[in-house]
Amino acid sequence: MTEQAPHRLYLREDQIPTQWYNLRADMPEKPEPIRLPNGQVAAPEDLAPVFCDELVRQELDDDTAYVDIPEPVLEMYRIYRPSPLCRAYNLEKALGTPAKIYYKFEGNNTSGSHKLNSAIAQAYYAKAQDLDGITTETGAGQWGTALAEASAHFGLNLDVFMVKCSYEQKPFRRNIMETFDAHVTPSPSDTTEIGRKMLAEHPDSSGSLGTAISEAVERALNIPGNKGRYTLGSVLNQVVLHQSVIGLESYAAFEELGEYPDVVIGCAGGGSNLGGLIAPFMRDKIKGVRPDTRFVAVEPASCPSLTRGRYAYDFADTGRTCPLAKMYTLGNGFLPSPDHAGGLRYHGMSPIVSKLKHDGYLDAVAVKQTDVFAAAVEFARLETILPAPESAHAIFQAVEEAKRCAETGEEKTILFGLTGTGYFDMKAYDAYNRGEMSDHVPTDEELEAGFASIPHIEGVQ
Ligand SMILES: Cc1ncc(COP(=O)(O)O)c(C=O)c1O
Repeated sequence: MTEQAPHRLYLREDQIPTQWYNLRADMPEKPEPIRLPNGQVAAPEDLAPVFCDELVRQELDDDTAYVDIPEPVLEMYRIYRPSPLCRAYNLEKALGTPAKIYYKFEGNNTSGSHKLNSAIAQAYYAKAQDLDGITTETGAGQWGTALAEASAHFGLNLDVFMVKCSYEQKPFRRNIMETFDAHVTPSPSDTTEIGRKMLAEHPDSSGSLGTAISEAVERALNIPGNKGRYTLGSVLNQVVLHQSVIGLESYAAFEELGEYPDVVIGCAGGGSNLGGLIAPFMRDKIKGVRPDTRFVAVEPASCPSLTRGRYAYDFADTGRTCPLAKMYTLGNGFLPSPDHAGGLRYHGMSPIVSKLKHDGYLDAVAVKQTDVFAAAVEFARLETILPAPESAHAIFQAVEEAKRCAETGEEKTILFGLTGTGYFDMKAYDAYNRGEMSDHVPTDEELEAGFASIPHIEGVQ
């Protein structure tokens, strides 16, 4: 295409992918398998009490490259997809860069983020299995909101454990979930055994995703008649699979433009938007079609699993009730500081993203929240979207890359994932605007305390 790219490129509705793409099928080395605490590789029957049957199948399937998206899921995707691929012309101009900056905007639905892509799938499979209810955790509140929307659509009860500091920072998030008829509890809570234990040990705990996960799993296992299951909004292979719609649509949009990104950037909490965004571009890199594409994960300096963590088997939750995944981890006992990007405050990382990082396919950087908010404010003023603090991590890095191009004169094409909007994060913006935001970067000693909680399993590295 020779004419200028539009500010917003919308694919047609019939271009929404009808299959998810499973990057594991094309990875030269697969991510390490999920294991039980005794070191055995988890079998479907081990996971079935916790997750829906079809989701267990997807979780353990390293080989099927393309998975059909069920029609009821597609029907709901059509309400808010395709999402636009945007060109940040104003930002480019302000930076004086020859780089082209594109972003895939996933914030244009009520949940305000990409989380709806997997929430719809998970709620659908739960309904298809004739369950009464599902449970989950939520950090920033986006995942809980997305799952509340999806559960209301498919007629499921939903119990959400919301990380306490987010519950307090973002009361309106809770209100939306309740509007969709979800039941929301601040975590740690006194409604579960693990919550009571956490409160006894840390009465002033502001909570963490790891603890909220433990509480949600416990609640799911206690739904009578084996009619409840747990759902997770990130980290798992199945979630990365569902989020591949982001990458597949971006890929199709670039084909229409006749362009291809040199650098693909995503923020990384548990790794689901990043894993989904990069999937088809990483496929090209792995297959040698586009060997030079660079991929960058951006995480908070306050919770630096990819950049300062250990690549080891660790529990997915603080209560150590879940199976173990091999991933970059700060240790299941690591309690991140109450920074404002609640969705990035997780001790571990997707095993797929971790494996790609470990094998040298993906770079990672850690950035401080004050720098992230400076980028968020600049972006909002220039591009008219108020980004979620999580998404702003990717903006910061895109700006860094574009500034480098301004120095070298390179005309790189940059793609980043704008995962969501920040309209419920006004306390954070307020703190930044008043100059009251500070940065917490854990010391090596603080990290050591977290590493001490990584289990040692005999015979397993
Ligand atoms: C807007 C937004 N972006 C990114 C993330 C990080 O999650 P993930 O790494 O799974 O994409 C979250 C998590 O809550 C989020 O709400």
